[in-house]
Amino acid sequence: MTQDELKQAVAAAAVERLPLDAIIGVGTGSTANCFIDALAERKRSVRATVASSQASAERLRKHGIMVLELNEVESLPVYVDGADEIDARMAMIKGGGGALTREKIVAAVARQFVCIADQSKLVDKLGRFPLPIEVIPMARAHVEREMRALGGEPRLRTGFTTDNGNQILDVHGLDIADAVALETRIDHIAGVVSNGLFARRGADVLILGTASGVRIIERSS
Ligand code: 5RP
Repeated sequence: MTQDELKQAVAAAAVERLPLDAIIGVGTGSTANCFIDALAERKRSVRATVASSQASAERLRKHGIMVLELNEVESLPVYVDGADEIDARMAMIKGGGGALTREKIVAAVARQFVCIADQSKLVDKLGRFPLPIEVIPMARAHVEREMRALGGEPRLRTGFTTDNGNQILDVHGLDIADAVALETRIDHIAGVVSNGLFARRGADVLILGTASGVRIIERSS
């Protein structure tokens, strides 16, 4: 199977697992787009969605699927999204598409985080993928210095503005030995809006597309 076919397979498997007539949190990126397209086939069984980006909201609406603001919703049973990397502890790096802040917010509201990914995303150790950090523009140089002090090499994502009007630093070369500690450490740097480590609140379920089929991996408590 090609990588695109693996993405479609995990998206279809995620749609199969959705609760009926629920409000669903929807992520961002090419795998999440496959999920949106698969959801469109079953849209009558979904009450509404909450999107983690303007791009996903637009795609959902084009399919005729209702999109609500997160503030209109008290709880979400499930949030479905891709990842740039995920490890065996279900900690992830996200934000390759720059939507990390809204993804983290929607994920925080959801009772269950379902990560959909092809096998290339499963890693022994997080960090080969540069860590995205959303920064308030006036704090960019300060955050860059702080990230260098932590051993990383930050690079500004040029020509990109987040849905929140901020910038993204992609930080290369970090040694992510303790993802939970690093996520917290970076969040405390003044000017950081959020960072792409999803370790404190990782995935609860991983739907992984492999050459031998789709695997469902539940987080062990
Ligand atoms: C967007 C994300 C995506 O989930 C992540 O980048 C994976 O994207 P793709 O499914 O295109 O590989 O975090 O901000």
